[in-house]
Amino acid sequence: MKEKIIVKAKGLKKSYKMSKRNIVAALRGVDIEVKEGDFSAIIGPSGCGKSTLMHILGLLDRPDEGTLEIDGVDMSRLKEKKAYKIRSKKIGFIFQGFNLIPTLTALENVMLAGKYGGMRTKERKERAKKLLKLLGLQDRINHKPNELSGGQQQRVAIARALINDPALILADEPTGELDSKTSLEIMEILKKLNRKENKTFLIVTHNLDVAKVCKKIIRLKDGLNA
Ligand SMILES: Nc1ncnc2c1ncn2[C@@H]1O[C@H](COP(=O)(O)OP(=O)(O)OP(=O)(O)O)[C@@H](O)[C@H]1O
Ligand SMILES: [Mg+2]
Repeated sequence: MKEKIIVKAKGLKKSYKMSKRNIVAALRGVDIEVKEGDFSAIIGPSGCGKSTLMHILGLLDRPDEGTLEIDGVDMSRLKEKKAYKIRSKKIGFIFQGFNLIPTLTALENVMLAGKYGGMRTKERKERAKKLLKLLGLQDRINHKPNELSGGQQQRVAIARALINDPALILADEPTGELDSKTSLEIMEILKKLNRKENKTFLIVTHNLDVAKVCKKIIRLKDGLNA
């Protein structure tokens, strides 16, 4: 079977202009390829451009230069509205700080992402419940984020990332705020999703125990592939 390429990026550059004289070159020409079923870690020192890269791959930001294809579609000249659609449907995000909406329950948080992905109410409720159950949260679905532990909140965020059955899941320090035992539990959950459902993951981490669980390691340094 031919391997499907989910992300193909070449020569990505991104600078942040702070003032006329102060320009921070966050990415200086990064290449990256992600195949279907990959479970890869991105590692590198603080400030090397990992989050900037994730934002660009996740269509939350645009590169100054370079090309980006996601699931075979050229993203470089995409209009914002189309980019938003693709982002909602094809890409799931997991962040360090969980980023759940505090006023919504676990179930509502997961369902909301399904709404952005264009799913009908009944379908997204069923799927959200199923995912929360899969993640062991069946008796926490009506809890708000502040009524959940860190690991439970991160599992809600994982369910949210999965609801639209994305082609790619981007995780930026997904275990950054968790203790080491919970971190490894979360990594086991992600790995299981990768193994059983062939979900494709790209995971930024500075935790070498987390990186060890990954199948491939992509290194960045000073805004370049290292
Ligand atoms: N919005 C911004 N405006 C200006 N500079 C920025 C902005 N975001 C990031 N930078 C700078 O770009 C560089 C890359 O930042 P980035 O957040 O991608 O690093 P990182 O590898 O994710 O670091 P960390 O491991 O600390 O999260 C850093 O030097 C940072 O200071
Ligand atoms: Mg970062």
